[in-house]
Amino acid sequence: MSTQSLTQPHTHKYIETQSLVEPDGSISINTKTYDIIVHPKKNPKLGVMLVGLGGSNGSTLVASLLAHKKRLTWNNKNGAHQVNFLGSISQYGSVHIGYDAKNTPHSKLFKDIGDMYNVDDLVIGGWDICGDNLYEACKKAKVLDYDLLRQLEQELTQIVPLPSVVRSNFISANQLPTANNLMKETDLDEIIPNIMEDIQNFKKQHNLDRVIVMWTASTERYSEKEWYDMDNLINCARFNDPEISPSMLFAMSTLFLSEIFLNGSPQNTICNAIVELARKNKTFVGGSDYRSGQTRLKAVLVDYLALSGVKPLSIVSYNHLGNNDGKNLSDEPQFRSKEITKKNVIDDVVLDNPQLFENGKKPDHCVVIKYVPSAGDTKKAMDEYSSQLMLDGRNTLAIYNVCEDTLLAVPVMLDLILFSEFFSRIMVSSTDDPDPKPFDTCLSYLSYFFKSPAVNNNEPLINSFYKQRLGLENLFRILVDLPPCTHVNLGGRIKGTMGLAPL
Ligand SMILES: NC(=O)c1ccc[n+]([C@@H]2O[C@H](COP(=O)([O-])OP(=O)(O)OC[C@H]3O[C@@H](n4cnc5c(N)ncnc54)[C@H](O)[C@@H]3O)[C@@H](O)[C@H]2O)c1
Repeated sequence: MSTQSLTQPHTHKYIETQSLVEPDGSISINTKTYDIIVHPKKNPKLGVMLVGLGGSNGSTLVASLLAHKKRLTWNNKNGAHQVNFLGSISQYGSVHIGYDAKNTPHSKLFKDIGDMYNVDDLVIGGWDICGDNLYEACKKAKVLDYDLLRQLEQELTQIVPLPSVVRSNFISANQLPTANNLMKETDLDEIIPNIMEDIQNFKKQHNLDRVIVMWTASTERYSEKEWYDMDNLINCARFNDPEISPSMLFAMSTLFLSEIFLNGSPQNTICNAIVELARKNKTFVGGSDYRSGQTRLKAVLVDYLALSGVKPLSIVSYNHLGNNDGKNLSDEPQFRSKEITKKNVIDDVVLDNPQLFENGKKPDHCVVIKYVPSAGDTKKAMDEYSSQLMLDGRNTLAIYNVCEDTLLAVPVMLDLILFSEFFSRIMVSSTDDPDPKPFDTCLSYLSYFFKSPAVNNNEPLINSFYKQRLGLENLFRILVDLPPCTHVNLGGRIKGTMGLAPL
């Protein structure tokens, strides 16, 4: 049943029933049968190149993977520890596979269903505008306990980021004092081939056939141009258009090589032109902005409120943090990018609940981020959700969340890498179209991990945590030859009958 350790393609059948609302309001039902084919890995190792390798997220991901591979143990005031990746859905998330005769639920881990890479199979490299080696980077990030970092000093010191690019105030000026590791070239028609060469060298050096490039560098301001057209973007790059951001340069270089590009930050990198470029080169993109803490909770809470039939009136989220990301976000244009993705996360819940949100009017929504250096990587988030109850009553939830920012983001990065690579090996054929096709360009099953999911033109944008989770979980059920789980469980609810055991 399991697709683990595939040596040849494995096919799973899926019958999808969709309801389509016609222009006259009537509903038609369409049923289609699909074959989902999972192809085996081509290589025992998977390459990952991080833009922003020396940042808190980048350096912590590398250090924790290294410590995991070496099965290190370290001590702090709470005792001895070994590395785990708590917070990662691929490693700890489970898929419900059924109940037994005693109605005890059974499940399988995502990683045991999908033929995903193991965390020890990742080979990581990348770029940073700051040339510190990763031992120095980890020291600066102040995320790892000293006793762990000390044991990794030798290896981390050897890892030095490749030179990168800064361009016309895309990141805050407060990041420039550490920008001491820049490519010599300033013309974009030299920078793009340079980045492509870096990727190809990395593949050659480690004998890889797939590299995932992930932007986990500082948040950029929005590009002020709407990049709709791929040819126009490529042409403007030849003329050094100042509105082409570094993240777009990395995306373009990655896509030209038909590799996968993921955007972990909020800026508008994944625009139409980039999606078109990915489509033309038969590869994939995913983004934007890891949904790791406050916004993941927001997606859950807005689902909870709307699904409880109360009317959310306002969401006010305030947070302060003291890491380098917070410093970069203390400038208005970079904060603005973050504010947009942080506010987007409730959009489809609003549209799906017209009785609560008349004419699609969203609740008042305010986002504040303040940089407080002494807070370090410990982000303090204070959220207030006010809702209307019956008889004009009010319900206010006030949430105070203290979290280690980087330790929430790193498992999400890991999931994005493992799931996106796995999805790139899936092909689907249907009764209408027997020729197997890959997923479309924007890997929208990754929406679960992003604040502002990139989706394809022919599919709905889904922000709702609970819908995203059901979609992801049911896809994995299909991969163990089970039908989607509806939780209708009719069989067991009928009086005096022995129904079918529920799925
Ligand atoms: N919980 C989280 O940590 C979280 C959640 C969602 C999104 N993000 C986003 O992830 C990104 C990384 O977060 P972080 O905490 O690691 O930030 P960080 O400031 O610690 O690291 C960013 C790194 O990017 C480098 N950089 C900047 N511009 C670059 C460029 N053009 N090329 C290469 N490197 C460049 C910087 O030198 C720095 O080392 C940020 O954009 C942040 O908003 C983080």
